Amino acid sequence: MWARTLPVALQLSAATAALPPLPILPPLPVPPSQIAGGEDFVGAPAVGNQLHHKVQFQPRASLMHGDAGNTGSTDSAGPLGQDPDVKSALQILGVMVWGPDGTLSGGRADISNILMPRIGLGAYDPATLEVLAEWFPDNPDEYLNLGYMELRLEDNSLLVSGASGRLYVVQRTDGSDGTSLELTREVDIAGSLSPGETLLNSLFDTEGNIWFTTGTLTSTPLGPQSSATIGYVEPDGTVHALHLPDQIIENGIALNGTTAYVVTGPLNGTTSTTGYVWAFTTDSPGGDGVRTVWKALYDAGTHQKPGGLTRGGGATPALLGGDYVTTTDNADGRIKLLILHQEPREDPDDQVLCAVPLFDEGASSNDVRPTVHFDGERYGVVIQNGYAVPPMLDHTQFLLDVNGAWNNMTGMPGGIVRVDVNPGEGCEVRWESDVRIKSVPALSTKTGVLYGYVQEEEFAADGTYVWYFIAVDWESGELLWKKRAGAGGSYNDNAWPGSVGGGRFYQSLMLGVVWIEDGSEKY
Ligand SMILES: *[C@@H]1O[C@H](CO)[C@@H](O)[C@H](O)[C@H]1NC(C)=O
Ligand SMILES: *[C@@H]1O[C@H](CO)[C@@H](O)[C@H](O)[C@H]1NC(C)=O
Ligand SMILES: *[C@@H]1O[C@H](CO)[C@@H](O)[C@H](O)[C@H]1NC(C)=O
Repeated sequence: MWARTLPVALQLSAATAALPPLPILPPLPVPPSQIAGGEDFVGAPAVGNQLHHKVQFQPRASLMHGDAGNTGSTDSAGPLGQDPDVKSALQILGVMVWGPDGTLSGGRADISNILMPRIGLGAYDPATLEVLAEWFPDNPDEYLNLGYMELRLEDNSLLVSGASGRLYVVQRTDGSDGTSLELTREVDIAGSLSPGETLLNSLFDTEGNIWFTTGTLTSTPLGPQSSATIGYVEPDGTVHALHLPDQIIENGIALNGTTAYVVTGPLNGTTSTTGYVWAFTTDSPGGDGVRTVWKALYDAGTHQKPGGLTRGGGATPALLGGDYVTTTDNADGRIKLLILHQEPREDPDDQVLCAVPLFDEGASSNDVRPTVHFDGERYGVVIQNGYAVPPMLDHTQFLLDVNGAWNNMTGMPGGIVRVDVNPGEGCEVRWESDVRIKSVPALSTKTGVLYGYVQEEEFAADGTYVWYFIAVDWESGELLWKKRAGAGGSYNDNAWPGSVGGGRFYQSLMLGVVWIEDGSEKY
């Protein structure tokens, strides 16, 4: 799950920001749409608990979910909560990716022709979100899958797929004469897809191949689908594709080396419970296809859950080092966290190491990738409960009903849980917390804090929506502090991602971004 309504948001920002172009000025802050009540800061600053550096996957890359292993983590520092400042900008990035020297790239809207806003990529100043450079596809109607865009760190190449069936590689260059974004490669693979399919995922592997999958997400122009294609494009343009009937893809994919991990599920509108987790790799030299390393059956349930955004398993898979891959199923009643071996097992039934039931019967669902970290001995996996998350708004509704009931999260059972995986042994619940969260959190290994964004429950029942940044201790699950971000629907995260970089934690909003950084005493 990610910024599904981004294109509409871009159009909205075009409509609301109907100003003459002001290219150089820093963007204005996001206006609150209600009066903020409640405490400004609760708790105490974090001490800062440095964790092991995160496991690196190859090729090294920055994505919405941290890296191509989708760990949700970074070795950059987030704020400790010391005398923190909150800032915001009317600048819609949707997704943020971080370059080797702390450079920031993300989504971008061109609103110079207000009747025809275009979606592209942007390079930004992380301290102000001023635009340093931008790139747009030639076709103004192209829909870019920004949620699953990637920045390859070794050469600062941005990779993003479009609904038209194209893969775009855009080079970011930062020099003494400024920053530029230039298209260096465009591959049209529409002819290798089955009818009705649209591209969703694209990732570089270590051989320079670009892996892709088709797929769909609710509230995007990607329509309903009845099959899936997985494949890769070699550097010379040769396309290899594997077609899967009766399965669809509704999430991101994970990749390390030349192995891609993919979750597929049943077609929307069917009660089939058949879904699979797959590992694919490149075929041997001279071969002609995508090789299936293994596939494991999971329980996709009979229907989409209240608050759910996907028909099948909701979580983009995350890699636990070189040992396991994790995702969640969509079993009726109570969903399960699945931990699967990365290596193929002789008996396919052994592929799953653990299946841990999550949350309560009839009140569990998940659409957000697990956050994972290795402490040198065991892996920690954190999952949040997305049952009964209020629907993500489209922007017509947003404009008409900014402060309406769609903001009200008190009907969610909520909860986050950490499960530990002991290699060679098994899995156990480490801690549970009653935090209600629908946005995508991020872990800083530098501070040992899982950063998220929540609503004050006390006021929500009465229709006042006050939003807070939260800091959760990764080791104990304790809520260390919360800091008020803003009030009203204009500060609702709409289930969009958060991101840590340069000592800040940023939360994407419908109209822009809000972030928190420490004051005078920098970590
Ligand atoms: C499945 O179809 C229903 C009914 O058309 C729709 O409301 C829902 O959003 C769809 N779900 C997905 C994941 O596409
Ligand atoms: C990633 O893949 C590379 C190349 O296959 C391998 O050497 C490395 O061990 C893998 N890393 C992890 C964390 O699995
Ligand atoms: C918010 O949701 C709760 C629980 O569903 C409900 O009791 C309350 O009336 C709602 N408040 C508003 C203002 O919609």
